[in-house]
Amino acid sequence: MRRVSPAIADCELTYLGRSPIDPTRADRQHRELGRQLEAAGLAVITLPADPTLPDSTFVEDTAIVLDELAIITNPGAPGRRPETTTIAAVLGHFRSLRRLEDPGTLDGGDIVRICRTLYVGIGTRTNRSGLQQLASIVEPIGYEIVPISVSGALHLKTAATWLGNETWLVNPDWIDPAPLDQFRLLTVPADEPWAANTLALNDTFLLPAGFPQTCELLTASGYGVTTIEIDELRKAEAGPTCLSIIFEA
Ligand code: GLY
Repeated sequence: MRRVSPAIADCELTYLGRSPIDPTRADRQHRELGRQLEAAGLAVITLPADPTLPDSTFVEDTAIVLDELAIITNPGAPGRRPETTTIAAVLGHFRSLRRLEDPGTLDGGDIVRICRTLYVGIGTRTNRSGLQQLASIVEPIGYEIVPISVSGALHLKTAATWLGNETWLVNPDWIDPAPLDQFRLLTVPADEPWAANTLALNDTFLLPAGFPQTCELLTASGYGVTTIEIDELRKAEAGPTCLSIIFEA
């Protein structure tokens, strides 16, 4: 994780209008998420805040960590590219690194991994060249790439969570679900469009507070749910997944 930048109010915004963000409240919510990760048994490395990089707390976008290696991304928002330097320095202690480069762009928030398959959102931040560069790195080591078209949301993960048991939680208004047709899809209610991004932690899913129907849907379908307050961070188009990179050390 990386502490919330005091400049978070100057973050990139694509689908949301700008509203004031309280960095102190955002930091409090971020710290609580860190506590939840630790309570789930994870060792959390938290990097210092960077006042020059407003979006740098959204570390997920800067890297994809696989068992064999880590791929440092080329984020689709040019202003976010300097974020990768610090992340690469840390991940280099755990994995050999590969890097994506222009003209390819890719944000980690566009990658959902299921075993040896990487689902890759193609949209505002990740382009075909980024996908091809990723494929050239991971296909030789046995991964399959499946593109999914994303529109109306920043990332694939904004609109889809892999729940296990052959099931996804999706917002079908923001992705083309056709590549997922062999799975069971649970659809978030139309008035809870931001609820499709949840973070899997052991047997529980961290769901942002304020989505009672999705909470009920998940619970009734047999999934454990813990709610977490991240509304201040969501003003920066954040969800629970984008605030950490989780991997086996
Ligand atoms: N504010 C998050 C992003 O645009 O990447």
